[in-house]
Amino acid sequence: MKIDRKDWYFIAVVVVVLGIFVAITGKEKTTRVPNNPMHKLSYDAAYKNAPGPDASLFKRAFFKPDKKAAEVFCEPCHKEKGVPFPPNHPAKNRCLFCHKLKM
Ligand code: HEC
Ligand code: HEC
Repeated sequence: MKIDRKDWYFIAVVVVVLGIFVAITGKEKTTRVPNNPMHKLSYDAAYKNAPGPDASLFKRAFFKPDKKAAEVFCEPCHKEKGVPFPPNHPAKNRCLFCHKLKM
């Protein structure tokens, strides 16, 4: 098969799209919220309405953790326990927007 100029354009586009995809995926390195007894409070709040294992597949597929309910606890406790924020830490609201929950 002969690869002509049009094919090279197509290959270039595919390479660029893959490159962007890899760049975006690699950026998600923000520390996840540890799933430990300390953070149980937040996980419980996020998953309190989680459908049980016998709920319909539809319900389970569309369930989203209640992030806003979980975030209420983050900052007060971190303040109380003196967990340090790194310097230049971004605005301290909507924690879970950046720090993802582990399932
Ligand atoms: C009841 C107290 C408490 C609550 C609530 C809490 N944290 Fe924490 N968090 C801590 C403590 C203490 C640490 C220090 C490390 C540890 O003990 O897990 C910590 C550590 C962390 C870390 C750093 C983990 C690491 O690997 O260095 C992140 C990120 C974090 N918390 C995010 C959150 C977010 C987001 C929320 C809200 C959804 C939250 N925390 C709610 C007490 C709390
Ligand atoms: C706009 C995104 C963003 C938001 C919102 C945000 N953070 Fe962060 N946070 C970061 C980044 C980026 C870092 C530094 C990189 C890292 O270690 O994850 C960080 C670091 C941390 C660390 C130190 C992690 C470690 O490993 O030492 C803690 C603890 C933390 N954030 C807690 C919180 C809490 C609690 C909230 C909500 C009150 C919050 N963050 C909101 C982006 C965010």
